[in-house]
Amino acid sequence: MAPPSSCSAAGNRKSNCRVRKRTAAPSPSAPKKFRSMEEIMRVALPAAPVSGEYYVDLRCQECRSGDREEEILLCDNCDQGYHLYCLRPIVVRVPSGPWFCPSCVGERSIKRFPLVQTKIIDFFRIQMANDEKCCPSQDGKKRKRRSIVMYKKRRRRLLPFNPTEDLALRLQQMSSLAAALTAMNMEFSNELTYLPTMVDRSSNQANLEKGGMQVLPREDKEALELCKTMNKRGECPPLLVVFDPIEGFTVQADGLIRDMTLVAEYTGDVDYLKNREHDDCDSMMTLLLATNPSDTLVICPDKRGNISRFINGINNHTRDGRKKQNLKCVRYNVDGECRVLLVACRDIYRGERLYYDYNGYEKEYPTHNFV
Ligand SMILES: C[S@@+](CC[C@H](N)C(=O)[O-])C[C@H]1O[C@@H](n2cnc3c(N)ncnc32)[C@H](O)[C@@H]1O
Ligand SMILES: [Zn+2]
Ligand SMILES: [Zn+2]
Repeated sequence: MAPPSSCSAAGNRKSNCRVRKRTAAPSPSAPKKFRSMEEIMRVALPAAPVSGEYYVDLRCQECRSGDREEEILLCDNCDQGYHLYCLRPIVVRVPSGPWFCPSCVGERSIKRFPLVQTKIIDFFRIQMANDEKCCPSQDGKKRKRRSIVMYKKRRRRLLPFNPTEDLALRLQQMSSLAAALTAMNMEFSNELTYLPTMVDRSSNQANLEKGGMQVLPREDKEALELCKTMNKRGECPPLLVVFDPIEGFTVQADGLIRDMTLVAEYTGDVDYLKNREHDDCDSMMTLLLATNPSDTLVICPDKRGNISRFINGINNHTRDGRKKQNLKCVRYNVDGECRVLLVACRDIYRGERLYYDYNGYEKEYPTHNFV
């Protein structure tokens, strides 16, 4: 069996925070004055060591402490410092581009998505038969009953998710995801996207996986296809996206999710890891871990994706953190291509938050500050 997938640590290899030197800018109006080296040396003070007194007043604006200076991030506008772990939601690593502190960015307001069926249908590009109204069809119900019988016999097979029957509740679930995607400037996409500028679909070859990749059994492929069809009809998994002041967006069950239920496929744009090594996206996921590292592929849900990119990770460094895990992230060979699936690894009850291990394989995602 191939190793489980994990949120890629592509952008996490940098370890030092951006604690910049605050050098005074030369005044443009000051007249130029040239002095001899002798004169300069006579009046010059000995240079202070860079890591000593120079940073003595560097403090985090949240906790007011100057401890763990190497984890203090400086705002590119006001130069104020913040511990990575004092920011809300926490920042796991130093952004490679400019970073602006909460006061410079201003209040981030998350707008509610209109709870209007037609708007939700448009956002998710839901395809319905003429007489259907975004709810399970008779045909779907029959198929589900058959599937229950089929899956009872073989306990360890993947179960398709069970959409909430109540249409009003389902619209609320979809509206919560639409609001989160809109806040992240993302479009909904339930498939892997291959853009001509990134990766050709033919490069996603499961046989390139180092050590091989497990093939998704035929019955499980049927479950995956059924989930895809249900999604297209607006029969989404029973999940709500909520905003937590510490964890940021996070996903919670809005109904019972049985052990072994296929909750979602991880989707987004497929790119080569080598093109994303300096990318700030904290939701990158390994798709193909190739024998030849330059063939390694990642899923980047920065422009489009689905609910998977909002599911949070466990803290690998604490027992309580590990106890929270209720999902596993598994990579499969589906028709010769790699796919990443999120599957319940125990029964998950309504109101419970979903968590999986971001460090399933590479062990490089910094989760030590996770709740
Ligand atoms: C894949 S995203 C998950 C969605 C994210 N919470 C958001 O608001 O977009 C990963 C990021 O979520 C946050 N995160 C995930 N799990 C967390 C946890 N257990 N505690 C705190 N923050 C967490 C971290 O900021 C991490 O970089
Ligand atoms: Zn702090
Ligand atoms: Zn600032």
